[in-house]
Amino acid sequence: MSKHNDNSVEFCFLAEPTDVNFGGKVHGGMVMKWIDQASYACAAKWSKRYSVTVSANGIRFIRPILVGQMVSVTASIVHTGRSSMHIYVVVRARDPKEDSPVITNRCFITFMATDESGYPIKVPEFTPKTAEDEKLEQVAMHAKDFAKQLDNDFEEKLGWK
Ligand SMILES: CC(C)(COP(=O)(O)OP(=O)(O)OC[C@H]1O[C@@H](n2cnc3c(N)ncnc32)[C@H](O)[C@@H]1OP(=O)(O)O)[C@@H](O)C(=O)NCCC(=O)NCCS
Repeated sequence: MSKHNDNSVEFCFLAEPTDVNFGGKVHGGMVMKWIDQASYACAAKWSKRYSVTVSANGIRFIRPILVGQMVSVTASIVHTGRSSMHIYVVVRARDPKEDSPVITNRCFITFMATDESGYPIKVPEFTPKTAEDEKLEQVAMHAKDFAKQLDNDFEEKLGWK
């Protein structure tokens, strides 16, 4: 199931037995897949274009997700560049019989909108509406700078492209 408003998309579903590892908790890789999927839906909705993942930054595993829990993955555009969309994702989980979710994961993920040939294409500009949106945009820009610095360090310091 998914819900969305202008700049965000929310996926809601139950964590299934096939999502779980040998320790009985949801696989980290499965959570990353959900994050990528919700972010793709958010980026495609915002840009109206096929979009590709550029980078995922600071994925934090705060609490485990258990089989049978109700999971929500909310992906929101919080900053845009020319072709890039910087998305804040928060994952929450709760017992479906109760109303008190906990935050299990958060991260920033960047998508780039592409034209028919796969080249970067301009996206609509995101404008923050609230003071919190403005702060989140600042944090997202900081995360982008960090990710680019990391790319640079691999290239400059290690000679890796
Ligand atoms: C995504 C890809 C096309 C970007 O190529 P690139 O040559 O690095 O592109 P650019 O340097 O022009 O950067 C494109 C945008 O990403 C941004 N960007 C680049 N590196 C970034 C990083 N590490 N973190 C966040 N944003 C980044 C740039 O600022 C630019 O945004 P802008 O247009 O808003 O200014 C290329 O890396 C690629 O094809 N990657 C594989 C994508 C993929 O297979 N994803 C998984 C399946 S969808």
